[in-house]
Amino acid sequence: MVGSVVPSSKFLSRKMLDHLNFKQAKLVVELGPGTGVFTQRIIEKLDTESKLLVIELNDAFYRDLKNKISDKRVTIRKGSASDLPKFMSELNIEKADFIVSSLPLAILPKTLRKRIVIEANNRLNIDGEFIQFQYTLQSLKLFKKVFKKVSVRHCLFNIPPAFVYSCKKQ
Ligand SMILES: C[S@@+](CC[C@H](N)C(=O)[O-])C[C@H]1O[C@@H](n2cnc3c(N)ncnc32)[C@H](O)[C@@H]1O
Repeated sequence: MVGSVVPSSKFLSRKMLDHLNFKQAKLVVELGPGTGVFTQRIIEKLDTESKLLVIELNDAFYRDLKNKISDKRVTIRKGSASDLPKFMSELNIEKADFIVSSLPLAILPKTLRKRIVIEANNRLNIDGEFIQFQYTLQSLKLFKKVFKKVSVRHCLFNIPPAFVYSCKKQ
């Protein structure tokens, strides 16, 4: 379910998040936060009026995040990333500005993986961005099929080294 043996490094966190401009973002979504390495950085970057929706499937990680984070801009939900539309409608928000994902897409069943990526695209604002890291290039084909623009960068300083995908609708 986790797809990794150690939490991501601060170098990967920077590569995932530092280029994103959260100013004026209404909603940022994080899928698969685990121990919250990216969550903390997202919160630091978040505008006072912005919201962050965090979705984690694993009960232990979910409870740990609930204990660690008390910020009224942040909503933490236990469930699957495939339920993103449901969690967004609970917040009364139609589109997200950024979706940051650490989901272990490579080990998810193909249909679920496809559904999550298609739904992420559907739920993004027209100028929004979906950011995902992976240890392989396995999902590149799917990302290119679903999103209009896909770029890939490499982060060597992580165990294991990772690819960071930035996917846009336009
Ligand atoms: C590779 S870990 C990433 C953790 C952390 N963000 C990091 O980079 O160190 C993947 C996380 O995705 C969660 N996860 C797996 N399948 C999921 C799903 N369908 N919906 C939501 N979270 C899921 C796992 O429980 C785990 O916490």
